[in-house]
Amino acid sequence: MSQYQATAIAHPNIAFIKYWGERDPTLHLPASGSLSMNLDGLYTRTRVTFDPSLEQDRLILNGQHLTGPPVRRVVAVLERIRQMAGMTWRAEVVSVNNFPAGAGIASSASAFAALSLAASAAAGLNLSEAQLSRLARLGSGSACRSVPQGFVEWQAGEGDEDSYAFSIAPPEHWDLADCIALVSQAHKLVSSAQGHTLATTSPLHHARIAHVPQLLQQCRQAILERDFAALAQVTEQDCHLMHAVMMTSTPPLIYWQPATLAIMQSVVEWRKSGWPVCYTIDAGPNVHVICPAPYAAQVSEGLKLIPGVEQVLIAHPGGAARLELS
Ligand code: DP6
Repeated sequence: MSQYQATAIAHPNIAFIKYWGERDPTLHLPASGSLSMNLDGLYTRTRVTFDPSLEQDRLILNGQHLTGPPVRRVVAVLERIRQMAGMTWRAEVVSVNNFPAGAGIASSASAFAALSLAASAAAGLNLSEAQLSRLARLGSGSACRSVPQGFVEWQAGEGDEDSYAFSIAPPEHWDLADCIALVSQAHKLVSSAQGHTLATTSPLHHARIAHVPQLLQQCRQAILERDFAALAQVTEQDCHLMHAVMMTSTPPLIYWQPATLAIMQSVVEWRKSGWPVCYTIDAGPNVHVICPAPYAAQVSEGLKLIPGVEQVLIAHPGGAARLELS
């Protein structure tokens, strides 16, 4: 690896306690803390090369040269790195996801975590995990949670300095599985970025945000004690709270499809019959069904039988963003 080129890998993450609504849309300072698990098996690999012959930053994602808003978010992260390293060279960013584009899994978290690590290393910076997490946050809020390993909490903080994520437990702490039921491969109608700005139009937003510290405490404790029933209860409650905020925004955001609700109902039935399972849903119709790993095969088979479920991906707790040595 030369000083001006580096490659990094990072996983996406699924939040048990969600980030929805921002205090600062440029720095992505969240309205509240959030808590998530990295998803092993799914990843973004990003190579960054600073090159004095480039006139502007270039982004090649899954083989396609991109322009417009995605590049602006990448440039925001690169600009901060150039500032820190005292360099002016532009960069070429080549990024590949091992999960299909439009598979219903947000790739921006893994993408900006990998970008922050690769670009800072390529610029010769040796940043702490907290600094990397803050950098990733500038690209996409939830990306700050894909920097540390395993089970991760993002503290809202007061400002840019102290709004970053840290690990509360390594991936091997608890062998959970996330069975991701893909209902639709269509692109989101309203992006999370737009959605965050609408949160405050819901009269329920402030009530949810006031309640989040308690939810975080319950979720943290459930994870540390490996108490699945407690994790299931708090995860579904916050999923419902966030979607209640979305649905009562102006204009309303309704991400669910009929199959989304069919999966939710099946999960509740399975739980009544004794399976340890729960669900959570992000800004889209796909459902993340969480269970202890030994139940993943039967949960996945059950999900495939539900009309409208196109595919099921299974992920386990994932590690931190890491450099790849060439
Ligand atoms: C509903 O602004 O981080 O997934 O569109 O991927 O940049 P991107 O999303 P971001 O918001 C994520 C919102 C969420 C909840 C969560 O992951 O906490």
